[in-house]
Formats: sequence, structure tokens, C-alpha cells
Amino acid sequence: KKAAVFASGAGSNFQAMMENKLVCDIVLLVCDKPGATVIDKAKKFGIPVFVFDPKQYPTKLDYEQEILAKLQFAEAEWIFLAGYMRIIGPTLLKHYRKKIINIHPSLLPAFPGKDAIDQAYVAKAKTTGVTIHYVDEGIDTGPIIAQRQVEILPGDTKETLKMRIQRVEHQLYPQVINQILGKQQGVF
Ligand code: GRF
Repeated sequence: KKAAVFASGAGSNFQAMMENKLVCDIVLLVCDKPGATVIDKAKKFGIPVFVFDPKQYPTKLDYEQEILAKLQFAEAEWIFLAGYMRIIGPTLLKHYRKKIINIHPSLLPAFPGKDAIDQAYVAKAKTTGVTIHYVDEGIDTGPIIAQRQVEILPGDTKETLKMRIQRVEHQLYPQVINQILGKQQGVF
């Protein structure tokens, strides 16, 4: 099986996918931020990259059509969002129905959207966590596949909390991908 990863930033989840044995091949990285660290990571692992600047396109329809062409050329059947900071539009949703998976750093439906770790920290929540879900037209609203709880400890700063959440992400995302794509690992 072949999959593409969409990311906008540091790419620690992308790296976790590359360093864990996935049952699928990552055939393309799609990145909407020229200069993002994840691009260097992809090059290091020899993964083809499609970088684009949304500002260079008249509409989301235009750039998503170009992404779609790249996905089809690479024969990607799945899309894994890993810190991709854009809403997936109808062009991609139509062609990849129930084939787009996202990771979000909270226990959805709590703290959707941007800065979910900060949101939980500022709200003084006792626990937060990680959610992996299918992508629909909403923001972090699709059907939930797996969740892991992460406690917010009394001494936590935003940074220590983020570190612990990301450690959970890096384990959970590859496991869930393998489970969904067919290799039973008993993560649920
Ligand atoms: C992760 O915390 C993920 O849950 C969120 O964005 C962050 C991406 O981090 N959607 P990285 O680029 O994988 O390091």
C-alpha cells in the first residue's frame, strides 16, 4: 500500500512514521510551507516532496487539484495528516473518502483547532491527550479511531506537556496506521 503524508512544520510525527516499520510505503510528502523543517527530513529519508505556497494559487480548489495530480502520479491510496495546518477541501475529500487520517493533540471533542496543547494547559484541565481520527469537512470533527490520555501534572509547563504528548503521538500514530491498513498489533 502507498500513502502520502501532509505536514506544515517540524515533522516529528513524519519522522516517527519513517523510523517505525509501517505496513505501507510513504511515497510523497505534501507541504504548504516552503522552508518547513519537515522538508529536510523527507529529503534525508529520500521521500519525494511536493512543496507549494497557497498564496501562489487563486483558490483552494486550484492548489488541491494540483495536490490531487501529485497524489495520483505517486499512486497514493491514503493520506496521513501530521501537523498539516489547513482544512482539507472537497476536491481531496471526494477522492479520498475515509482514506484521510489526522492526529490531534487533545482528547477530542475537547480542544479542537489550533494550539490544542496550550488550550488544555490554560484551561487547567487535569488530563488531555491524543486523538487519531478520520478527516471530514469539519475541523477535527471526523470519526474517532483511537485516543490516549495524557495527564497534566502539577509541575508541567507548556513545553513539558508538549513533550509528553508528542512522545505518545510518535508511538500511537504508526501503530494505528498499521492497524487500519491491515496489520493486527492489538493497540485497541
Ligand atoms: C502534532 O502535535 C499534531 O498532533 C498536530 O500538530 C503537531 C505536529 O507536530 N496536529 P510535528 O510537525 O509532527 O512535530
